[in-house]
Amino acid sequence: MANELRFDGKVVIITGAGNGLGRSHALLFGSRGAKVVVNDLGGGHTGEGKSSAAADKVVEEIKALGGEAVANYDSVEDGAKIVQTALDHFKRVDIVVNNAGILRDVSFPKMTQDDWDLIYRVHVLGAFRVTHAAWPYLRDQGYGRVIMTASAAGIYGNFGQANYSMAKLGVAGFASTLAIEGKKKNVNVNTIAPIAGSRMTETILPPELIASLKPEYVTPLVAWLCHENCEETGGLFEVGGGFFGKLRWERTKGQTFRMGRAITPETVKSSWGKITSFEETEHPANVMQSMAPILANVQAGPSLGGNEFVDVDLALGS
Ligand code: NAI
Repeated sequence: MANELRFDGKVVIITGAGNGLGRSHALLFGSRGAKVVVNDLGGGHTGEGKSSAAADKVVEEIKALGGEAVANYDSVEDGAKIVQTALDHFKRVDIVVNNAGILRDVSFPKMTQDDWDLIYRVHVLGAFRVTHAAWPYLRDQGYGRVIMTASAAGIYGNFGQANYSMAKLGVAGFASTLAIEGKKKNVNVNTIAPIAGSRMTETILPPELIASLKPEYVTPLVAWLCHENCEETGGLFEVGGGFFGKLRWERTKGQTFRMGRAITPETVKSSWGKITSFEETEHPANVMQSMAPILANVQAGPSLGGNEFVDVDLALGS
C-alpha cells in the first residue's frame, strides 16, 4: 500500500506483549518494519508465576511474518533491563507502549495492602521505570512516542477495582505531565483506555462479546499515535470494538463568591444547583485555564458590601 504508515528503522518496546493487546500491538509494529522488544513476564493474570513462553511465542510469530523481534522476560518493575534489551539488540529506542497489566479485583473491605501494592507496582511503578529509562534516549534524539494504557475503570470507577482504578487513572495523570515535558523535544505521550477480549476480561465479559472485541480493533490507534507524522500529545482515548473517541475534562461554569465576606456551608448549599449544573460548561485544558476563575476572583478583590454572590467574568484564558 503506497500510503501505508510504516515504522522502518524504529525500535519499539511493548510491555506485556505475550498476550492480548500487547501481542496485537507487537504483531502490527513488527509487520510494518519496526524492530520489536517483546516484553512479557509470562505469569498469570493476577500476577503469579513467570515464564518465557509467552514472549518467545510472539517473537516467533513476528519472525514468521518477516519481522524483527527480541524477547525480554523481566518484570516492568525492572524497566531499565527492558530498555537495555532494546539498546543491546537494536542500539536505540523510539517508542514505548506501556501495556503490561494484571488484576486483583476484590471489594474494598476485603482488599489487602498486597492487592493494592501489587497493582500499583505493575501498572504505575512499572510504567514509570520503563519510561524513565527510555526517556533520555527519546528526548536526546528529538523523537519519541509513549503510550500509557489506562482503563474505563480508572476514569469512571468500577465495583471491586479500587486498586486498579487508582493505578489506571494514575498512569493517565502521569502521561499528562510527560506530554508537557516532552513536547519541545517531539516526545509525544498519549493514553488509551481500551476494551478488548483477552484472558484479563474473559472472566468478566460474556463469551460472545469476548469473541468480537478483538485486540486488533485497538492496535490501529496505538500505531497512529506512535507514528512520526502524528502530532497528538496529552490525549486520552477510549477505544475498542471499532469505536475510537477522545475524552476531555468538562467543568460547570460554577458559582464564584466574592471574597471578603463569610462563605458558609449554607452559602454553598444555597448555590448547589449552580455549582453542579452542566447547562453552562467550560473545558479547561491546562492548569492556567483551570485556575482562570479563581485568579479572576482574586483580581476582582474583596466585596465592598452589597451583593454576596457577584458573578466574575470567568471566560477561559481571560
Ligand atoms: P492480558 O492478560 O492478555 O495481557 C497482559 C500481559 O501483561 C500478560 O501477557 C502478562 O504476562 C503481562 N504482564 C503482567 N504483569 C507483568 C509484568 N510485571 N511485567 C511484564 N509483563 C507483565 O491482558 P490485556 O487485556 O491484553 O491487557 C493489556 C493492558 O490493557 C493491561 O494494562 C490492562 O490493564 C489494560 N486494559 C485492558 C482492557 C481489556 O478490555 N482487555 C480494558 C482496560 C485496560
